[in-house]
Amino acid sequence: MPARNPAVASSNIVAQLKAVTFSYRNTPNVLENVSLTIPGGEFRYLVGPSGAGKSSLLRLLFMDTYPTDGSVLLFGSDVQKTNAKERATIRQKIGIVFQDFRLLNNLSLADNVALPRLISGENLQVAREEALELIRWVGLDHRINSAPQTLSGGERQRIAIARAVINRPKLLIGDEPTGSVDDAMGDRLLTLFEYLNRIGTTIILATHSKSLIDRFPHPVITLEDGRLIED
Ligand SMILES: Nc1ncnc2c1ncn2[C@@H]1O[C@H](COP(=O)(O)OP(=O)(O)OP(=O)(O)O)[C@@H](O)[C@H]1O
Ligand SMILES: [Mg+2]
Repeated sequence: MPARNPAVASSNIVAQLKAVTFSYRNTPNVLENVSLTIPGGEFRYLVGPSGAGKSSLLRLLFMDTYPTDGSVLLFGSDVQKTNAKERATIRQKIGIVFQDFRLLNNLSLADNVALPRLISGENLQVAREEALELIRWVGLDHRINSAPQTLSGGERQRIAIARAVINRPKLLIGDEPTGSVDDAMGDRLLTLFEYLNRIGTTIILATHSKSLIDRFPHPVITLEDGRLIED
């Protein structure tokens, strides 16, 4: 096998966990010596039983929390060695769909979706237009004037997905992003994710849905009891 140029190879790595152990305050280890490399352009599922540590692993990947031991690298930077400004730059490259959606109830749906665009410096009118386009795409234009708290779980999830993708993130992290929608909508959302993946977004989706993986096959990372299981 030809020798790889290590500088080139490593520059294409979007996310990396090196011997990561993680525990919440006063809990046993939730992740145990997990090492994982996600090259740019990949689409991977993260699976494992409830409580295996999937959401915790994803939280490490968007710097919602930090490893107890070992290190997390995002776009080549060790996140614990970055300053606040560097972390903000990294966060702008990441889109997240949370397991519990986390919409802001005091904003309109369009502004919920537009928010990451505004934060990255786009003007309000353009950001709102892009938000409306995505809201149409996830099939919710008829709910455009609804308050977020009046949406069903699946509708909230679709808004959360529109918000996560509006900045065309380099890395899209989804924690059961289709857990609350029916199969037809799940397929539509996966089609959107695959489109983003084709134009360069690296994707990591935690899911419990085997049928989703069958319908949209991509490599699978399996966690069990905080440990990575080799395929
Ligand atoms: N904030 C927290 N404080 C303490 N323990 C936590 C916290 N969040 C999660 N845990 C524990 O960490 C372990 C892993 O939880 P995690 O949410 O990562 O699992 P999961 O694989 O995402 O499960 P699910 O499929 O149910 O979403 C569980 O034992 C859970 O109880
Ligand atoms: Mg979870």
